[in-house]
Amino acid sequence: MASKMINITLKIWRQKNKDAKGQMESYSLNNVSTDSSFLEMLDQLNDQLINERKEPVAFDHDCREGICGMCSLHINGRPHGPDTGTTCQLHMRMFKDGDTIYVEPWRSAAFPIVKDLVVDRSAFDRIQQAGGFISINTSGRTIDANTIPVPKANADKAFEAAACIGCGACVAACKNSSAMLFVGAKISQYALLPQGKVEAKQRALNMVRQMDQEGFGNCTNTGACEVECPKGISIDNIARMNREFMKASLSNEK
Ligand code: SF4
Ligand code: FES
Repeated sequence: MASKMINITLKIWRQKNKDAKGQMESYSLNNVSTDSSFLEMLDQLNDQLINERKEPVAFDHDCREGICGMCSLHINGRPHGPDTGTTCQLHMRMFKDGDTIYVEPWRSAAFPIVKDLVVDRSAFDRIQQAGGFISINTSGRTIDANTIPVPKANADKAFEAAACIGCGACVAACKNSSAMLFVGAKISQYALLPQGKVEAKQRALNMVRQMDQEGFGNCTNTGACEVECPKGISIDNIARMNREFMKASLSNEK
C-alpha cells in the first residue's frame, strides 16, 4: 500500500502525577505518514510540543517490536487499538485523513496512573515474584531436559502460554479488571511441563493470593481479554489456573 500523509486530531489523557486530576486535551497533528507506527506518530507530536515549549506527552515503550509489553495504550476505546498486535505494532495506515483518535492509559485501580499515559504495572511483577518461577536445586547433577518426555500437545500449549508479554491489555479490556488471563498464562506455562509440577501447588496458591491482594477483579467469562490479547492467549488458561488452584486448595485442607 502506497504511503500518504494524513492530518489527524488527537484527544489525549493528560495527568501531571498520580494524585492530580487528569483531563483529555486536544492536539492537531499534520503530515503524519501512514507508514509510521503509532508510537512514531506520538514522537512526532512530542517534537511539535517541544518546539512549542509545551510539556511532551509521557508514554511507555521499550522494544517497539511486540516483545516487552510496555506500550500500554487504550486507543479509540480498545487496548492496543484497532489492529491485532501491540500498540507499537499498530500503524497509522489503520487511520484515515481527518480522523479523531482518543488515547488513554489502561484504566484499572490495580494499575495506578504515574503520569499522562504511563501506568504502574508492578502488580504484575509482584504476582510473578509470588510463584512464577522454578527454584529446584540441581546440586550440580543436572539431567538433560530432553531426557524427560513431554507430550507434543502439552509442549505446544505451554509454549503458547509462555508467549504472554505481561502487557496488561487483558486487565484493561475486562469490565472487572480481572488479571486472570495473565495469571492463567503464567501458571499454565509451568503446569503443563514436568519441570513445573514439583512446585505447582505453592505456585497456584501464592500467585492467586497475590493477584487478589493487588485488587484485580474476578473473571465472569465475558472473553474480552482473549479478544484483545495481542499474543492470542486462550481463556483455556483461566480454566487450567482454576483447576490448579482448586487441586492445591483441596490438598492443603487434608
Ligand atoms: S495475557 Fe495477553 S493481554 Fe494479558 S498480559 Fe499476557 S499478553 Fe498481555
Ligand atoms: S514497546 Fe515493547 S511490546 Fe510495544
